Amino acid sequence: MVPALFDAFPTLTEPQPARGYAQLPYLSLGQFPTPIERVLAPLQGGCELWVKREDLSGALYGGNKVRRLEFLLAEVPPAGESLATFGGYGSNHVLATGIYGKKLGCRVQAVLYPQPLVPAVRAALRADLAVELKLRLCRTYFGVPWELARLSRQRPAPRLISPGGVDPVGVLGWWSGGLEIAAQVAAGLAPRFDAVYVALGAGDTTAGLLLGLGMAATEVVAVRVVPWPVASSLGVRLLARRTRALLIRRYGQAKTAGPRPKLRVEGRFLGRGYGHPTPWGAQAIQRGADLGLILDPTYTGKAFSALLADVDSGRLAGKRVLFVHTYNSRDLSSLISAGDLGMLPHWLRSRLADNEPAPR
Ligand SMILES: Cc1ncc(COP(=O)(O)O)c(C=O)c1O
Repeated sequence: MVPALFDAFPTLTEPQPARGYAQLPYLSLGQFPTPIERVLAPLQGGCELWVKREDLSGALYGGNKVRRLEFLLAEVPPAGESLATFGGYGSNHVLATGIYGKKLGCRVQAVLYPQPLVPAVRAALRADLAVELKLRLCRTYFGVPWELARLSRQRPAPRLISPGGVDPVGVLGWWSGGLEIAAQVAAGLAPRFDAVYVALGAGDTTAGLLLGLGMAATEVVAVRVVPWPVASSLGVRLLARRTRALLIRRYGQAKTAGPRPKLRVEGRFLGRGYGHPTPWGAQAIQRGADLGLILDPTYTGKAFSALLADVDSGRLAGKRVLFVHTYNSRDLSSLISAGDLGMLPHWLRSRLADNEPAPR
């Protein structure tokens, strides 16, 4: 399936010799369009809830990273390239890059920094090890620049795949995602939405949605799952602007302007910080499960808790709302059981052991 971005801007598939650019590199990794489904259980005030099932975006691994990687990994020369990236110990971006990078025959290294060692993080580390990611584990955030500098001194230097927020190429995937939702609305598969709720980390997903949704939604509510200033309204807007500028500069796509949804950044549901579970997130995970949604404590649980708070306060009475389900729901159990935590350094193994859930 051709990404919606190419339908909207056909010149992206053509080389631009006058500007000195080849056609926009793209590599199909996922399964798109992802469905939009209605949640049939009634919600307070008659709020109509729909879910963008991005959790099903790839057969190997789903979630919001797959669309980004279709553009970011397309810039990588064929098999054998060495890639590097970074993220928290349980980073979905790192795992997705490891899984899809390996599929392309690349060697992938990742610098990981601390985050609370909840069970999902332990599972992600196991899966990282099972896909043979070469992990460079930092004990504190301060180790990250040091490890990245060491990576840059390797010869040949690995290609750095950003986890988000800095590279407009990564936003193209979600620009396409926004256009995809707009096309689904135009085709009558879903209604026009009053609000779209999404977890806000580095901002690629939200920036792309703002660029692509057009008239399909009135407002995007981006729920912070990392603190300010990493997640900020200004950061999202700048990222969107830079991405638009990239298409205009390279492909002459001046008609990228158009009606946009409003952006509301919601910061009240973050709790103590990135990766720290919250009581309201836990409640949202439970209520999500009752509605048939499997959510996680770091991203989707917090985003859904914001949506539910707006339902409960009556703010969404009579509204049509789309929840973007950004967390992988493909079964990773075979990867998780294959990953050997014994390959981690002793200091991390003992921290993981300290956080092991007590046997019941
Ligand atoms: C499951 C999940 N949802 C949402 C996000 C936030 O996406 P973005 O960084 O594009 O704001 C992330 C980012 O890591 C994620 O892993």
